[in-house]
This record gives sequence, structure tokens and C-alpha cells, in this order.
Amino acid sequence: MGPASHLSKPRLSLLIGSSIMLVGLLGLGFYLLHKTFQEQRADLDLSSKSPRVENEATFAMATMQGVIARMKEQERELTGLRRAAEQRERESTRISENIIREMPSGLMVFNRQGFITAANPAVRTLLGVDTWSRRRYPEILGADSSLATQIRECLETGKTTTRETIEYTTPRGDVRLLGMSLSSFHGPGGEVDGAVCLLSDLTETRQLQEQIRLKEHLAALGAMSAGIAHEFKNSLATISGYAQMLRDGKLSYSDHEFAERIVMEIRSLTRVVTDFLAVSKPLQLTASQVSPKEILLHSMEDLQRVADFQQVVLKFEGEFAPVEGDEVLLRQAFSNILRNACEAQCPQNDGGSIVIRGETFRRGGEDFLRILVSDAGKGILPTDRDKIFVPFFTTKPSGSGLGLALVQKIILSHGGLVTLESSSSQGTTFAMVLPLAHKF
Ligand SMILES: Nc1ncnc2c1ncn2[C@@H]1O[C@H](COP(=O)(O)OP(=O)(O)OP(=O)(O)O)[C@@H](O)[C@H]1O
Ligand SMILES: [Mg+2]
Repeated sequence: MGPASHLSKPRLSLLIGSSIMLVGLLGLGFYLLHKTFQEQRADLDLSSKSPRVENEATFAMATMQGVIARMKEQERELTGLRRAAEQRERESTRISENIIREMPSGLMVFNRQGFITAANPAVRTLLGVDTWSRRRYPEILGADSSLATQIRECLETGKTTTRETIEYTTPRGDVRLLGMSLSSFHGPGGEVDGAVCLLSDLTETRQLQEQIRLKEHLAALGAMSAGIAHEFKNSLATISGYAQMLRDGKLSYSDHEFAERIVMEIRSLTRVVTDFLAVSKPLQLTASQVSPKEILLHSMEDLQRVADFQQVVLKFEGEFAPVEGDEVLLRQAFSNILRNACEAQCPQNDGGSIVIRGETFRRGGEDFLRILVSDAGKGILPTDRDKIFVPFFTTKPSGSGLGLALVQKIILSHGGLVTLESSSSQGTTFAMVLPLAHKF
């Protein structure tokens, strides 16, 4: 009897059923596994360009090789980029070094302890120093030199200095005028880590400026001498003419009349000489608190003694705070401004009027008085406006051209300013500013 003969019929049916189910399940599992594998392979085929493979091992190997090839390619690209960056860095370092080496300005770098860590050749020439190594700045620049003082302050407080002019004496005793800029640099914690100093030689520039100033002085002196010579020549010609008439006895008027003309010419010459001296020599101020309004009134009274100006009316506006000044000199200045204003409107039948406006203002922590003197005269031609303060510039037949130069000199000596505020054919306004505080 076979083994089946030992099994009952229901148990045999159960065995057969279970076997069929097991085979079905195995088939299903294999199918699902195959499908998943195919899908994964399809994905890999889409995303990579690796060659198609016969089996999974070959496929995995090929994928791996593709990845390795790509990584190698990227590594080559990265190496290329790194080399280019290094090349660029070398190039810019070379350019910076060349610029620093060749630049005419001196460049010095100090560390926190004050040791000079870098300096270009221009610094050596400017400061006349050859060696820097292991030396601190006071040792090289002199502990008390203004350059060392500024560097100390910068390293201690981080103070930045921009384009300051300092004097420096080289170890050989040459005095140099240096333009200096100094700035600190900082560590990660914000503490001063060192300083950079930029120096330029201004010695030659200063010498050139002085030469130009000297030339300008000589030119001004030439112009003034020419002006005074002209005045003298005219007056002397008149005096000589009348004196000859007196000598030759060709007198149609009384002798007294000719003598009077000679005296008038000599007076006018004396005024020119006095004004000229006042313009050219330094003024000695005897200052006290004075009232500008009163001085203006007195100056006008003096002027009105001259017949032509008697009709001129003076009008005051605004406020006139007292200033600290020299009464005699201010009277001279105000007289010249007022005389010009009177002369400008002299042809008017009623003599015209002069408006004087006073206003105080504050600037830079100081108080000032501005006096505006306006006339209704013929005005100043635009082409003459920048010449009116030049000594001996005049448009008047009998003027010496020293009035405004003297006004400017007096007002400047008081720490003030005089300007032509405006001018047209309707009139002219001059502005004089005088400080109210004690500042000369
Ligand atoms: N208020 C004014 N109106 C018109 N022109 C003026 C006035 N003030 C000055 N000027 C012009 O400026 C010139 C120079 O004036 P400045 O007082 O220096 O000399 P001047 O009056 O000509 O001679 P001086 O004052 O020496 O007798 C004058 O000749 C004139 O042309
Ligand atoms: Mg004048």
C-alpha cells in the first residue's frame, strides 16, 4: 500500500489545496519581484546614460563606473577652477605689490605693539630711514615727533586722521612737510590690531605756493606803485603848471587863487599817501565797545560838510548791536562806503537817500552784526565788480581807487568781512559783517 493509502480523503484534499496555494503565492511573489526590478532598471536607464546591461551585477558595475567617471570629470573641473582662482589671486597680489612699491606716496603698516610690519620704498625716501626690522615707531620716527604722537594716539584709541599736514625732521636734519592720513584696523573682538599710515611729500608744493604768493605780492606792489606814481604825476603836473604861471607873472586871477589850487592838489596828494600807507602797512587796533550806528552818523555828518552831499538822507532800519572795534578806523571805513554811496547818486537833484540796515546773526557759535548800505545810484558794471577792491582801481576822474581797499583792510582787521551784496542800474548794496564777540 502506497503512502496515500494511509491518508484519509479529506486530509488529502487539504494537502493538495495547500500545495496549490503555496505554488500560487510563490508565483505571485516572483512576479512582483520581477516587476519591481524591471521598474528600477527602467528608472536607472532614464536617469543615466550608462550602457544597457545583461544582468544586474554588470548593470550595477556600469552605473558605478558612470558615477566614478562623472566624479572624476567634476574633480578635473574643480582643479581647473582652483588653479584659475590661484592665478587670479597671484596676479592681483602682484599688481597690488607693484602699485605699493612704485607709488610716490609712502605706506607704512604697524602692528598693535607698534612694530613696523611693512613699508614701501617711498617711505624710506620720505622719512630718510633705511632699516625697519624689529624696530618700533618711536625709535625710528623720534618719540616726540608729531608723526609718532599721531601713531601712538591711533594705536591707543583707534583715532583716524585724514590729510593732516605735519612737519617732520629726517635723521639728517632736513625738514619735510608731510601730508598724512592714518587709520586703524581691528581684530575680531573689535580691538585695535594695528594701523596704516599714508604719507605724501608736500615740501615742494609748499615752496611752490610760497613762490606764487611772493609773485602775487610783487605784482600787487607793482600795481600799487604804478597807481601811486600816476596820482603823483597828475598832481605834480597841476602844481607845476600853477607854479610856472606864478613864476612867469602870467596871472589873470589873483595870486591867492593859484596858491589855493596848489594847496588843494597837495591836500589830495597827502590823502593818497595816507590812504596808501593805511592800505599797505599792518593796522594797530585800539579796540573798545563801540556803537556802529553812532559811528555811521558821525561819518555822515563829516561827509555832509561837503556841499554836494548835504541833501543826502540817511535812513536806518533794523537793529545795531554794539561791536568791539577801533572807533577811528571804523569811522574811516564807514566814511569811504558812505562817500561812494553819495558819489554814486550825487547827480540826483534831491541828493538821494542811503538806507542802512543792521541785523545780528549767529554762525559757528559766534554772534555777528551785518550792516547793509544801499544807495539808489547808477550801480557798478558787471565787468568792474571783481576789481573794485583792488587798490587804485577807480572809474572816477578824481578818485584814487584806494577807498574800498582801505575798507576791506579795516574790516578784515576786525575779524569781519566786506562784500558787494548786489548792484544794478537801480542802486548798489555793500554788506559789512563785524563780530560782536571779542575776536580779532
Ligand atoms: N556805491 C557805489 N556805487 C557805484 N560804484 C561804486 C560804489 N562804490 C564803489 N564803486 C566803484 O568802485 C570803484 C572803487 O571804489 P573806491 O572807493 O575804492 O575808489 P574811488 O571811490 O574810485 O576813489 P577813492 O575812494 O579812493 O576816492 C569806484 O571808482 C566805483 O567805480
Ligand atoms: Mg571811494
